[in-house]
Amino acid sequence: MAERGRFDGRGVIVTGAGQGIGRAIAERFARDGGGVLAADLNGDAVETLASELRSAGLRAIGYHVDVTDPAAVRGMVARAVAEFGGVDVLVNNAGVLRQSKIMATTPEEWDLVMAVNVKGVFLCSQAVHDSMVARGGGRIVHMASLAGRATSTLGGAHYSTSKAAVLGLMRHMAREWARDGITSNAVSPGMVDTPMARSGADATRMAEIVADIPLRRLAEPSEIANLVCFLASDEAAYITGASVDIHGGELIIA
Ligand SMILES: NC(=O)c1ccc[n+]([C@@H]2O[C@H](COP(=O)([O-])OP(=O)(O)OC[C@H]3O[C@@H](n4cnc5c(N)ncnc54)[C@H](O)[C@@H]3O)[C@@H](O)[C@H]2O)c1
Repeated sequence: MAERGRFDGRGVIVTGAGQGIGRAIAERFARDGGGVLAADLNGDAVETLASELRSAGLRAIGYHVDVTDPAAVRGMVARAVAEFGGVDVLVNNAGVLRQSKIMATTPEEWDLVMAVNVKGVFLCSQAVHDSMVARGGGRIVHMASLAGRATSTLGGAHYSTSKAAVLGLMRHMAREWARDGITSNAVSPGMVDTPMARSGADATRMAEIVADIPLRRLAEPSEIANLVCFLASDEAAYITGASVDIHGGELIIA
């Protein structure tokens, strides 16, 4: 069995946990004792992850979900409550990136990026609220991006807009749900070494990007997971309404 950890007895939902950052976050929560519902549009990927974690003696289930579908999102939360007794932590990580320039962006592509990156965050947060209240509070961590703090390296205007919207939603949620004992914070990474980042740039472009990062490398998904888990931990009880940058020095501002 797992050693006792800081998330023992907690129910955790991580969206977009099939690969990349979300997978690292789900693994980290499970290693730290949490019961993890790993959710993704790619149901096979999260089933595989969950069975690997269970084989290691950890608590995890995979769940197929489209975060843009309100009924599916409610089903996801009901499953987590049934499995773990409640939801204490939600990580809104699922996201899509598209690279089209403004003049080449179709209304359909705009809507897709907004639906997954913004509406999905709204729906998942709304769906866990009552369960968190029933537990006396909770932690919501949203995956924003440097794109929402400045502009995107790889993504188009719709991607930057969606991540700026996540930061607005995060702040409003922090104020509105503080009385419910729920904290709402965001993590804003620069470039992270994931399939999303690798598929967006060839080797030459990637070398240029790395040369512009003061720490001269991409972040590892596990480094983002460390920060997310801190914001979801008891140690971060007084942090709410914050966006924490993690970008190797790419955007050093006040
Ligand atoms: N990789 C980076 O450089 C970087 C930087 C800043 C922010 N981010 C953000 O971090 C998050 C994770 O990024 P990543 O690089 O790991 O991406 P990724 O593309 O490698 O993984 C994203 C996951 O989200 C899932 N997903 C997509 N649409 C979904 C939907 N409708 N419902 C449920 N799941 C869905 C995908 O199936 C995939 O498993 C995203 O929100 C992304 O915008 C990434």
